[in-house]
Amino acid sequence: MQEYMRKLEDVESRIGAIEQDRARDEIETIGKELLGKGGAFQDLMKGLKDLPAEQRREVGRRVNELRSRAETAIRSRLGELRAALGEDVSDLDYTLPGVRPAPGKLHLLTQTTNRILGVFRDMGFHVQEGPDIEDEWHNFEALRLHADHPARDTQDSFYLAEDRLLKTHTSPMQIRYMENHRPPIQMVAPGYCFRRDPFTSRHSPAFFQIEALMVDKGITFAHLKGVLIEFVRGFFGRERKVRFRPDFFPFVEPGCELAIDCSLCGGEGCRLCSQSGWIEILGAGMVHPGVLENCDIDPKIYTGFAFGMGVERPALIRYGIDDIRHFYENDFRFLEQF
Ligand code: DAH
Repeated sequence: MQEYMRKLEDVESRIGAIEQDRARDEIETIGKELLGKGGAFQDLMKGLKDLPAEQRREVGRRVNELRSRAETAIRSRLGELRAALGEDVSDLDYTLPGVRPAPGKLHLLTQTTNRILGVFRDMGFHVQEGPDIEDEWHNFEALRLHADHPARDTQDSFYLAEDRLLKTHTSPMQIRYMENHRPPIQMVAPGYCFRRDPFTSRHSPAFFQIEALMVDKGITFAHLKGVLIEFVRGFFGRERKVRFRPDFFPFVEPGCELAIDCSLCGGEGCRLCSQSGWIEILGAGMVHPGVLENCDIDPKIYTGFAFGMGVERPALIRYGIDDIRHFYENDFRFLEQF
């Protein structure tokens, strides 16, 4: 017992020595003697079992305390000395495995857009992008959305200046494309659209659309149906059903809307499809002769079809997402899943 206590005191005084001002190699030597293999602390731990049972606990605790005091003293004194020499004193352990940076990926809306465009590219459509800032001619007039049309109301559009607004749909790309290309025309145009809508689970003031236009001699509604059915099968799956219903848009005649059967309830009716069993995904129609004329294309020789769809809704349906705000809030916990 006496012998053990003497050793303990010796260890304590050597720790005290480290805590005072000592040279670096001296600290390193003492450190090894205390904490190294076969060093004083190993010896003390071994010796514990020979102590009287009632002392063991108390002395053991003391030994542990001294060991952490020794470790701290050595680390901090060596750190101070090395810092004084201008050395890197971070506790960086070069033997640990590296931290792998998370690989970046495309946003879900970009992935969805690329997939949709891919289906049309496979059918021979050319992809063309256009400007976000439009004039009234391209965004409205040339599409026969005349000044008295409700969509022209400033409530619905973001005007930047007189005759300059953020495009409210991708349809102006029909006009821009026909200004610069003669039939045969087969193009799709992706782009952001902006409207003064509240930001809710179903609406956003900025959203994404894809426009399509095909113009040539002899294009009929049958071509439109064929292309749209192929798109629905290619993007949503071959088992989806489609429904065409008449609809009105000033730039097409006749016009229609396309719906697909709800994949969530299989057509029974649920929250996603507002109990109807069908989900509308786009507006379409035969290009109005007046629109062709506005672009110097003779409607007696050429006919065409056009359609425009949002990208958010197809993404909601395909990935089972319940709120379009997820697309814009940049929450990594959401984005990382796709
Ligand atoms: N531009 C329309 C909208 O934003 C969608 C649309 C309807 C586009 C019919 C078309 C079309 O090309 O033929 O609501």
